[in-house]
Amino acid sequence: MSDFTSNFWSIYIAGITILSVIACLVLLWISGKTKAMTDSDNTTGHVWDGDLREMNNPLPRWWVGLFIITCLFALVYLYLYPGLGSYQGSLKWSQTGQFDTEVERGNEQVAPIYAAFAGKSTDALAKDPQAMAIGDRLFMNNCAQCHGSDARGSKGFPNLTDNNWTWGGTPAQIHETIAKGRTGSMPPMGAAVGSSDDVRNVANYVMSLSGGPHDSVRANLGKAKFVACAACHGQDGKGNQALGAPDLTRGIFVYGPAVEAHVTDMVMNGRTGVMPAWDAKFTPEQLNVLTAYVWGKGGGVAGAHAAAPVAPSAQSDDAASVTVDGGVVKFFFATGKADVASGADKALADVVAGVQAGKKAVVSGYVDSTGNAAQNAELAKQRAFAVRDQLKALGVAEDKIELKAPENIEAGAGRQARRVEVSLV
Ligand code: HEC
Ligand code: HEC
Repeated sequence: MSDFTSNFWSIYIAGITILSVIACLVLLWISGKTKAMTDSDNTTGHVWDGDLREMNNPLPRWWVGLFIITCLFALVYLYLYPGLGSYQGSLKWSQTGQFDTEVERGNEQVAPIYAAFAGKSTDALAKDPQAMAIGDRLFMNNCAQCHGSDARGSKGFPNLTDNNWTWGGTPAQIHETIAKGRTGSMPPMGAAVGSSDDVRNVANYVMSLSGGPHDSVRANLGKAKFVACAACHGQDGKGNQALGAPDLTRGIFVYGPAVEAHVTDMVMNGRTGVMPAWDAKFTPEQLNVLTAYVWGKGGGVAGAHAAAPVAPSAQSDDAASVTVDGGVVKFFFATGKADVASGADKALADVVAGVQAGKKAVVSGYVDSTGNAAQNAELAKQRAFAVRDQLKALGVAEDKIELKAPENIEAGAGRQARRVEVSLV
């Protein structure tokens, strides 16, 4: 918690904090006891302007009361919350902790919504108004600053609503672009092309590919020089999606106006455009929704629909497993199954030790939100029973095991939801 290597500063700060609260109380007590020198008429003897006198009355009681309450509040607060050096407070509250809980709660709330999208094709998602409303929000918050709120891009940032794709417009390609990011790198090519005249000629040739403004004599001369470009942009100039080399035949330029000077600039200086990767920030479901949102903006290329859509976490990895997460042992189950994963004994070792030390093991079962409620309740119970039997097999007495049904046994979508948790109390 502390940024310091020793706890001197922690103690020092805790010390002066407590001392100042106590000093406040002492000051109050002293000033309540001593009386300033008074004249016989209960004034301090100070007189201004002839008849303005300073009275020597005691502090009003309500004020003293408030003062004491403030000090007591401070002490209670400092006991409950962090404030005294590196002491965490008895409630163990922290900003990051609160943030994590809120994020977790938020994710739990939206999990059922995303669960409804699982397994849908990009095509189907793009037609789902609820999915598109979520996509719109994700886009506005994360993508619009570069691609524009209408997704039409601007200089340096590609338009996502046309069918001109540098990296490909099928669902799988768009998904790959968003999840992993893309870096398009064109090196400066001036030297490879030749003299500055050669560069102008090749630039005119490039402009001629899309029928843009160009000098046809220069373009003819430049054609031979285009071999330097063909490795990436293709013989015909139609680009190469694997390299992110744009199609130069359509007259759509991201990095500048469709004029010779821009092409010359690109040839002389090169350019590296970076589209950031988002797979660390978004869940697989969110990535699918965003893919469908971009794909459905108008430019989406039909084709391999199936490649992106299903959340990998919900689909693959359907095997049972067990992990230990912050002291809580979590058993995950295959869809519809109550078989405990192998390796449970090792994971439960701490729980068994805890029970021997006088604690109790609490076992709670959860299911994912597919299937009907009655079946789910039964399944959650079977899973909890399977884990209880495992504990019993490890020598834990039955009265040390508490089966506790969670308030909401449906814990969202996918494998994370199909679980039994064992914790110590
Ligand atoms: C090593 C591969 C490579 C070579 C060789 C190459 N380019 Fe490029 N070119 C790219 C990439 C990648 C981009 C996109 C850069 C980005 O996204 O930042 C690009 C972008 C461009 C653009 C900008 C398009 C826009 O949207 O504004 C032009 C114009 C261009 N190249 C012309 C040429 C010409 C002319 C040559 C030959 C002299 C050439 N390139 C050679 C890879 C290459
Ligand atoms: C920091 C700016 C930035 C942000 C934020 C950003 N992008 Fe990009 N994006 C780019 C750049 C730059 C490129 C072009 C990369 C290249 O080819 O050089 C790009 C390219 C793309 C492409 C490929 C276009 C094509 O022609 O193949 C897609 C799709 C895309 N972005 C979607 C998104 C989505 C969805 C988001 C939000 C999750 C997003 N981008 C956020 C900068 C950004």
